[in-house]
Amino acid sequence: MGAKYVHFTSNETIEGVQWPREPQTGGVPLVCDASSDILSRPIDIEKYGLIYAGAQKNIGPSGVTVVIIKRDWIEPRGDLPTMLAYATHAKERSLYNTPNTFGIYMIGLVCEWIESLGGLEGMARRSAEKASLIYDAIDASDFYRGFAEKESRSQMNVTFRLPDEELERKFAAQSEKAGLIGLKGHRSVGGLRASIYNALEPESVRVLVDFMREFERENG
Ligand SMILES: Cc1ncc(COP(=O)(O)O)c(C=O)c1O
Repeated sequence: MGAKYVHFTSNETIEGVQWPREPQTGGVPLVCDASSDILSRPIDIEKYGLIYAGAQKNIGPSGVTVVIIKRDWIEPRGDLPTMLAYATHAKERSLYNTPNTFGIYMIGLVCEWIESLGGLEGMARRSAEKASLIYDAIDASDFYRGFAEKESRSQMNVTFRLPDEELERKFAAQSEKAGLIGLKGHRSVGGLRASIYNALEPESVRVLVDFMREFERENG
């Protein structure tokens, strides 16, 4: 095929779709925007030339981006400003400028927490369990409709629709009153979206599922 790399986004947050496994590229290295599902499951690092991920979803506070790059992809580039070249940051061990020390400290704590839960294998089990609690509730009802194709369902952002937009508005308002914040879908697609990143405890997902059942009983 002749391509140097294939870029993909492992999880997409608006429509709630995720690659269940890496795309097959016949050996062409992958470049991945893993911002929204990094550290939620193990990945086969050998397949990647470069992974980049904003920290703000699963890693820690905003303001840090993690880049994992194959050593032989790091080359000095005369055509880029010094600060924008990965070679600069690799050579200086990410201390070319003063980094976001507080953010990095927090990320250290998050990594310890992930290890205490069984590392990435543990996070994968936990993510799958949390997501299936909601998807099972969706699939068991005629009232809720999953937005994404089943094979591409995201384990980070569960998107669903109700029978009409009026009910969706009501769901968003009542859930917020019940302390379930941020369930309104992205403005470009509407509907509802439960973002269940690593930081969200399984117990919070159970509260949402109870709310969904109750809402259906009252409005279905
Ligand atoms: C996969 C992915 N890439 C990039 C972004 C954007 O990140 P930032 O706001 O740091 O540019 C997001 C977040 O919304 C995302 O989900």
